[in-house]
Amino acid sequence: MRFSIDAALLVLALANTLVDPVGAMPTYVPKRHLLKRATDGFHKTALRHSAGLAQDLRIALRGLGVASPARLSVTNGGNAPFCVPKSKSNPNPNTTTTPAVTSTSTSKRPSSTTSTGTSTPSSTAQSDWQLAKSYSGNTFFSGWNFFTGGDPTNGIVQYVDQATAQSSNLTSINSDGNIIMRVDTTPQVTGNRPSVRIQSQFSFTGGLVIMDSVHMPTGCGTWPAFWTNGPTWPQTGEIDIVEGVNDYTNNQATIHTNSGCDLPSSNVTALGISGSIVGGTNCAALETGNQGCGVRASQTNSFGAAFNSIGGGVYAMRWDDSGIAVWFFARGSIPSDITANAPVPDGWGTPSAFWPASTCNPFEFFQNHSVIFDTTLCGDWASGVWTASGIPGQEQSCAQRTGVATCEQFVRQNGTALSEAYWEVKGVQIYQSKS
Ligand SMILES: *[C@@H]1O[C@H](CO)[C@@H](O)[C@H](O)[C@H]1NC(C)=O
Ligand SMILES: *[C@@H]1O[C@H](CO)[C@@H](O)[C@H](O)[C@H]1NC(C)=O
Ligand SMILES: *[C@@H]1O[C@H](CO)[C@@H](O)[C@H](O)[C@H]1NC(C)=O
Ligand SMILES: *[C@@H]1O[C@H](CO)[C@@H](O)[C@H](O)[C@H]1NC(C)=O
Ligand SMILES: *[C@@H]1O[C@H](CO)[C@@H](O)[C@H](O)[C@H]1NC(C)=O
Repeated sequence: MRFSIDAALLVLALANTLVDPVGAMPTYVPKRHLLKRATDGFHKTALRHSAGLAQDLRIALRGLGVASPARLSVTNGGNAPFCVPKSKSNPNPNTTTTPAVTSTSTSKRPSSTTSTGTSTPSSTAQSDWQLAKSYSGNTFFSGWNFFTGGDPTNGIVQYVDQATAQSSNLTSINSDGNIIMRVDTTPQVTGNRPSVRIQSQFSFTGGLVIMDSVHMPTGCGTWPAFWTNGPTWPQTGEIDIVEGVNDYTNNQATIHTNSGCDLPSSNVTALGISGSIVGGTNCAALETGNQGCGVRASQTNSFGAAFNSIGGGVYAMRWDDSGIAVWFFARGSIPSDITANAPVPDGWGTPSAFWPASTCNPFEFFQNHSVIFDTTLCGDWASGVWTASGIPGQEQSCAQRTGVATCEQFVRQNGTALSEAYWEVKGVQIYQSKS
């Protein structure tokens, strides 16, 4: 455990206060104030003593914040962040995704329970997965809602709507047809920097998510993430596929759940993963101060500048009867079945991270997820580890590297340093089980 008892209890108490009840708008604003106050006090006491704690608190607060804005958007008039599957109106039966979210669907999961990491590649294998959604090029952004407002995780960004993002060139499409999402790089600002956070209108329960990225935000002060989340936190779970801060070079994938979901072991050999366990084995957000079950990738080019230097690569997240697994493939090592849109995960070898179904029912703890990209600046995690070193990629702390005492000061005074704080994404595909 990376938590002091005091810290864990504080977060737990805070979480309990905030999570129930996540109602409509009137209860939202007071919660944010409480959140902010509690966070401020927290920073003054324990936070600076524990980088790991900062990270966990940051993620906890993000999760708590997500539920309310989602409801708020609905209340505000129709910009629903979660899309009811179009089973009745979808003209193409081949792309229907109804089975994934109907109440009878739990009996229709892929029966594949092949232990990840033990199967051998087979170029002739048929894919069990059918493409449900594909986002790329000029039409990429039409399938996503732009989250607007402040960052629920206390980053010093202002998330902007689609029109503003386009007109201020925070989103664009480059000559390769890849989409760009970046943060404001005005040399000096006094407030928050505009940024982009988008959430797929499509939601799913079970599936295979493929994300091909050429470049991700990196550098001191940045905190990008590519993740999935359900409508109610933590009851419907959170899966962080790509996440890290500052100059980190190794990705951290994490799940955050309701009570009752665990990793069966912290022994990575027994788990059949190539990554390493970051925290404990209890994934229940509210029992652990939201430590979650985090796994750090072993590949030193799975995140940040090192990822960008090789032209990025592909992240895959499979959520099926066997559990939830995450793979990373560097640009030169992307399986051909992925490129051919006929993915056969059993041939991909040892995943970076895996949370087996045996101790965490993937259809009980995770439901109705949509996919999210965001880039925040500072906030609880990036700011909380500003003076910390020792994580791969962060051999020196950002305070040492920049010579600036705080994340906020650096980010506000130095827009030039944020020139690498952008996503360049070739595409996102969401597959559903054929069976
Ligand atoms: C998931 O979505 C389905 C279909 O819209 C809905 O019936 C169900 O209540 C949702 N479950 C949760 C936990 O939100
Ligand atoms: C659905 O897939 C089948 C088999 O691949 C194909 O024959 C059919 O034309 C497809 N239907 C549509 C509407 O795309
Ligand atoms: C918009 O952003 C892209 C990518 O960051 C950049 O290449 C382009 O020059 C920018 N265009 C303008 C008008 O600033
Ligand atoms: C980890 O698991 C492997 C495979 O089950 C086993 O051989 C090994 O002894 C375990 N290591 C520890 C430290 O328990
Ligand atoms: C801005 O950041 C860059 C890169 O870290 C650094 O070289 C430069 O000195 C910084 N400028 C200021 C004004 O802090």
